[in-house]
Amino acid sequence: MSYVDELFSLKGVSAVVTGGAGVLPSAMSVALAKAGAEVTIWGRGTSHPVTEAVESIRDESGAGDRVHGITVDTNDEDAVSAAFEETCLHAAMPNLLVNGVGGNQGKSEFVDIDVDLFRRVVDMNLLAGLVIPTKIFAGKWIREKQRASIINISSMSSYNPLSGVWAYDAAKSAVLNLTVGSAREFAPHGIRVNGIAPGFFIGHQNRRLLIADDETGELTERGKQIIGKTPAGRFGDFADIEGVTVYLASERASGFVTGVTIPVDGGYLTDNV
Ligand SMILES: NC(=O)c1ccc[n+]([C@@H]2O[C@H](COP(=O)([O-])OP(=O)(O)OC[C@H]3O[C@@H](n4cnc5c(N)ncnc54)[C@H](O)[C@@H]3O)[C@@H](O)[C@H]2O)c1
Repeated sequence: MSYVDELFSLKGVSAVVTGGAGVLPSAMSVALAKAGAEVTIWGRGTSHPVTEAVESIRDESGAGDRVHGITVDTNDEDAVSAAFEETCLHAAMPNLLVNGVGGNQGKSEFVDIDVDLFRRVVDMNLLAGLVIPTKIFAGKWIREKQRASIINISSMSSYNPLSGVWAYDAAKSAVLNLTVGSAREFAPHGIRVNGIAPGFFIGHQNRRLLIADDETGELTERGKQIIGKTPAGRFGDFADIEGVTVYLASERASGFVTGVTIPVDGGYLTDNV
């Protein structure tokens, strides 16, 4: 085995990627599978069908039947518990949780906040996107004395609010905060908790906000502003998320790393005047 394989091989890792049919989580799933992990993607199956995503992750990774899919709403505690057991029927007991569920809906002035929508966005990004799966997985791992690892997904809005997306800002700053707090609590049990803070990647939800014309690639005003604040001068490419995913998933490479969130943002957070 080469030195690089020894550092980064994910053989023996059984990963659950929530929201795994989504754009970024499916790119992360491909990376995990290519590095040797078993991967079970969990999705609600509403916007993005899970079976189609499994097929495309299998194709892209060449991992065949090391990739599985389960339809589950991660906002439902009982369903998450049942999906954990179901995952164990066709894969080894999970020892990596990637909390990939999340996304924004709506944009408004503060005084026009739609409180019901605000609750739904916080539910999606904080409860379904972190709290419920983490509670269930970590509880089982602690009882079973299973060493394990969690990767959360925060955002540029975890650090500085993005305008008009109040619930997303609130939830994603909490994701950053809970990554630190849960890392502290779980470390004595051999469970690491880290995060990735992606910059701007073109996904299903933000495409219309950022790209004005798909054919010419012309950007909206918001798209131009973002590129202007990204020193690398471009949006993220899905390949940009692979290395950091494999690094944080590998006990050999990052076994002494916990409580950190790594920005993958082309320097967006370094912006100054
Ligand atoms: N795309 C970006 O530029 C970007 C930037 C920063 C952070 N992020 C974060 O990355 C993560 C993935 O984002 P994406 O852009 O790939 O979005 P996406 O919409 O493509 O993926 C999210 C997936 O989660 C699923 N989902 C939502 N609620 C669910 C629930 N309750 N149960 C099960 N599945 C559920 C959706 O169906 C979807 O398939 C999110 O947390 C998002 O906030 C994305």
